[in-house]
Order: sequence, then C-alpha cells, then structure tokens
Amino acid sequence: MKKAAVILAAGFGTRMRSRKAKVLHEILGKPMIQHVVENYQAAGADKIVVVVGHQGEAVQQALADIDADITFAWQHEQLGTAHAVMQAEPYLRDFSGCILIGYGDAPLYRPETLAALAEHHLQTNAVCTVLSAIYDDPFGYGRILRDEEGNFVGVVEEKDASPEQKEIREVNTGLYVFSPQHLWDALTQVRADNAQNEYYLTDVPGILRSRGHRVEIKLCEDPTETAGINTRVQLAEAAAIMKNRILERLMLAGVTIIDPVTTYIESDVVIGPDTVIYPFTMLHGSTQIGENCIIGPGTRIVNSYIGDDVEIVQSTVIESRLDSGCRVGPFAHLRPGNVIGANVHVGGFVEVKNSNVGEFSKIPHLSYVGDSDIGKHVNMGAGSITCNYDGKKKHRTVIRDHAFVGSNSNLVAPVEIGEGSYIAAGSTITDDVPGDALAIARARQVLKEGWAKKRRG
Ligand code: UD1
Ligand code: CA
Repeated sequence: MKKAAVILAAGFGTRMRSRKAKVLHEILGKPMIQHVVENYQAAGADKIVVVVGHQGEAVQQALADIDADITFAWQHEQLGTAHAVMQAEPYLRDFSGCILIGYGDAPLYRPETLAALAEHHLQTNAVCTVLSAIYDDPFGYGRILRDEEGNFVGVVEEKDASPEQKEIREVNTGLYVFSPQHLWDALTQVRADNAQNEYYLTDVPGILRSRGHRVEIKLCEDPTETAGINTRVQLAEAAAIMKNRILERLMLAGVTIIDPVTTYIESDVVIGPDTVIYPFTMLHGSTQIGENCIIGPGTRIVNSYIGDDVEIVQSTVIESRLDSGCRVGPFAHLRPGNVIGANVHVGGFVEVKNSNVGEFSKIPHLSYVGDSDIGKHVNMGAGSITCNYDGKKKHRTVIRDHAFVGSNSNLVAPVEIGEGSYIAAGSTITDDVPGDALAIARARQVLKEGWAKKRRG
C-alpha cells in the first residue's frame, strides 16, 4: 500500500528565542526540516506534503535540493495542528493509501520506526494508529487516555489535563497513521473549545474512536527517537543523539574514532575502513575519505574527497581533492578548488588555493600557492610564494614537472617555470623561465673583507 506523509512546519517556535523559524535551525549541518523530510522519504513515503507558514519560503528553499515528491501547503494563520492538516487535504484528496502525520520539530525518528508504525496500522486494520511513549517527565506533552481494557480513548493536552491526567506518563509522541477518508471526515468535527482555542489534531483519534472505529496505540520502544525540539537545549541534545548514531555506524563499519566526545561528523560523510579519526576533528557535508587514513587531531574537512592512506594533521581542507598517499600539515590550509595528486606533501604553515599539484610534488614549509598549476615531482622551497594578485586581477602560475623552486622565492604571475629548471633561492621571478635553465633574480652578493674589524676600531 502506498504511503504519504504530512509534515507540520508552519509554527514559528517562540521558545527557540530566535529570528529564524524553528524548523530552519541546523542540526549537524542540515536544517531540522531536512532531516525530518529525509526520514519520511527513507520510510517509503512516495508523496510528502509539508505544511508551511512562518518563513515558508525559506522552508521551501531548505528542501529545494531533496529529490522527492514534495508539495507545500500554506497555513497562513496558525490555528492549530488539526487546522494545519486541513491545509494539506487538497493535495491528498485522491490519495488512497495510508497517511503518516508528523511534526517538523521531531527529527530523531528512525525510518524503520516510521515504517513499522504504518505496518502496524495496516496489519490491525485500524483507521488511526497513534505512536505513544513512556516519559519519566511527561510535562508539556499530550497524555494518552485508555479505558480499563487498555483501549485508546483519547489524548488530552497538558493545558487541558486534570491533575489526575497529568500523572499519566504515557504521552502522545505526535506521530500518527490515518486512513485518508476517516481523517478528512473527522477533521471537520474538530472544535477549538480548549485552553488554547486551537484546532487540535489530537482530538481526531478520539473522534474516530467515539464513532466506533478502530484506533490503535503503538508504544515506541526507544523514547529518545520521539523527542520534539522546542528549545536550544533540546536542539543540542538532539544533535548529540544524532552525532552518536553516526559515529556508531562508522565505528561498526571499521573506522576507529579515538575520542567520540570531541569528534564531529555529519550524516553524509563517507569514511573507509581502518581510517583513524583523532580527537577534535570535524568532518562536514559531502566529504569522502578513503581507507587507512589518519585524520586529525584537530582537523576540519569540508565537502572534500580524500583518497586512501592520506594523513591530515591539524589542518583545514575545504572543497578540495587529495589523492592517495598525501601528507598534509600540521597547520596547512587548503582553500577551495584544489586538485592534489597522489603522494604530495603539503607541510606546515602552507596555504594552497584553487591550484593543481601533480603527484610526488612537495610544498613542505611556509608557502602560499594560489591559482597555480604545479606539475609532478616539483619541489617548492621553504617560504616560496606565488604572487597571484596584482591588486585588480588574479593570474596563474605554471610550474612544469621536476622544477625546483629555491627557498624564499616569489613567482610573480602570470609566469611559467619550465620543466626541470631551477630557481635560485631568494629570487623574484617576473619573466618566464625555459626548461632546464637556472634563473637567478636577486642582487649579487657584495663582500667587504675586514669591514667589521675596521668598524670596531
Ligand atoms: C504537540 C501535540 C502533543 C504532543 C506533542 C509532541 C497537539 C495539539 N499537541 O504539542 O499532544 O504530545 O506535540 O511533541 O498537536 N504547527 C503547525 N500549525 C499550527 C500549529 C502547529 O504547523 O497551527 C506545527 C508546528 O510548527 C510544530 C508542530 O506542528 O512543528 C507541533 O506544534 P507544537 O506547537 O510544537 O505542539 P506541542 O505543543 O509540542
Ligand atoms: Ca513541539
């Protein structure tokens, strides 16, 4: 049977104390709403309707890159969760499968939990299935009311609950499965006669039950999955849970993580087996790392491709590619746009930007390489610099294979250093150097014999 999902994300989220709508706050580098939508997609929802209101355009933007059938339903006034679902109805009127409904502030559900709830719904022939959880501190949540036989009776919100009802620790997680026709019918019966004068979605299961329909409750085994995020404290707690899941998955797949507490890895990062991640390392975005690498301590890598057997110590690598066997750092800064061949050494206090470096080349100490095309087996001496900027435009520096650039040289771009040629240490090179030549571009040394002795008198 087909599954659709309705995700409610029209609220502002006042308790975040932010200018930004709650569902746009990021967890591990992705807006909360993106995690939520991806979870429903992974659970097999073929059609997803996101109800938007506050900062709705930005919410649409945050979901623009997801490859899924997403429709946006606008809820211009937030009159309650039932009212929000009503805004989705026009887009699902012809849908005949089952409809999952969840909240945009609950990003921790495992796709398997969502799929299992739908499965339970179908197996039991219910018209509505509510996911519940037992909380030690149920404050703030809707409570599940059951009759003596344990059958579902209704949900009562915290603000409407009697003192006895507030003692109930079984809460409404805010995740439901409905059969479409029963949902649309019951929504028309919801009244806003409650403490918040809102149309509560939580009344719908009770309405269906009182009409004699079958309403199921499924208890969620792992209550941490069900947490809704209302404050920044809960945002940080959710990030920690999500991060630990990622680290655990990587470790079980053969990655050594020396200190999980100080290691931050985002969900789409891929790492090969036998790679060791040292403490204080942050791996972001679409980063891919091969096998048997040493990453960290203190390394930050963003949207980069790293081959096998690479070592990156105390360095930053952004939007770059490093092939197998490279050694980087400590304290190297690879800015966007580098393609670094196999077995290259980029050493301490070296900055490389928008450059190609051929295999086995070395830039071991204190260099700036920008907008350059460096061949294979090139040696960049300590302190050598490409002068790529003339104050108006950037220019490229070309250094052919096997060239040797002496220490503390300046290569003023545009300039080309021919294959196998040498640049004398301390040169400022402004003209092209042909292959196999030696270029010396510095003042000749003057020697004054006995000068110091004479000065001392
Ligand atoms: C809701 C449930 C409560 C449950 C809890 C679980 C209701 C009435 N209560 O309470 O039983 O225990 O979630 O976390 O449903 N939203 C809209 N439009 C609206 C109102 C809300 O889109 O008019 C969205 C919000 O953006 C949010 C979600 O619905 O993502 C839930 O709203 P929220 O106000 O956080 O509900 P809770 O008070 O947490
Ligand atoms: Ca909430």
